[in-house]
Amino acid sequence: MALEVAGSNPAGHPNSPLTIASSGHARLGSKRTVDWRTMSDDRWDAVDAYTTALLQPADPVLEAAIRENAELPNIAVSAAQGQFLSLLALAIKARRILEVGTLGGYSAIWMGRALPEDGRLISLELNPQHAEVARRNIARAGLESKVEVRVGAALDSLTTLKDEVGEPFDLVFIDADKRNTPEYFSAAVDMSHAGTLIVVDNVVRQGRLTDSDSDDPDTQGMRRLIEQMGADRRLTTTVIQTVGVKGWDGFAFALVVGT
Ligand code: SAH
Ligand code: DHB
Ligand code: MG
Repeated sequence: MALEVAGSNPAGHPNSPLTIASSGHARLGSKRTVDWRTMSDDRWDAVDAYTTALLQPADPVLEAAIRENAELPNIAVSAAQGQFLSLLALAIKARRILEVGTLGGYSAIWMGRALPEDGRLISLELNPQHAEVARRNIARAGLESKVEVRVGAALDSLTTLKDEVGEPFDLVFIDADKRNTPEYFSAAVDMSHAGTLIVVDNVVRQGRLTDSDSDDPDTQGMRRLIEQMGADRRLTTTVIQTVGVKGWDGFAFALVVGT
């Protein structure tokens, strides 16, 4: 028996063009080593496909969200990463979640599902088309009463949010334009309490993070972020590199321990 996951892995993510035999061995394509140009490797895809088939089984809502996202850039978190965000939210019993960068709502659905009945997620998105797709996907997931998508430049939306002086957020996921990430991170810390967890996507950037001469504003943004995190005595911080269907990248984590 072979489990076909070609084109769309079971939790609906399209990044895994693989077939997994019931033995658990993926039949690899030709890329058996790291492709240093695209920074991808069939073996990384195979492990994601294998574990995702067993741990994030077929999910019509997420599959539909990925189908709807077809017109959008294919840059949502993977199923494994989406589940990880959900797992973190559950572990800290998050009731208030902030996301910066909604796209089609894929990561928002994963985190939204971890919320209790009175929980709320606010997701900030610049592109009104993305926000529209996201709202449809969120409604299909039955999460429209918990998840709110706000359209606008995140820097403006964050200023508005701060002025609203609502409850602080328990979990923040930053995944929008990379050059402004340090500013998003500062705003997140401002809206935190002791115990708030802040997660930032795409900090490693296929290793470009270490390029001190880089003139790429996105790389510079992530370098500024890590410096800022290291200098902030209120935070316990780390970076974890990742490989998988999204290539070589990594997350930064900050736990607010003082305010
Ligand atoms: N978190 C999503 C992926 C987000 S992709 C997921 O995993 O499913 C990044 C998103 O950030 C895009 O939709 C892009 O339009 C949005 N974005 C880019 N610049 C922005 C800005 N200045 N303010 C808010 N959103 C922005
Ligand atoms: C890109 C953005 C992301 O948030 C991501 O996870 C991967 C790629 C991008 O803009 O290319
Ligand atoms: Mg990302």
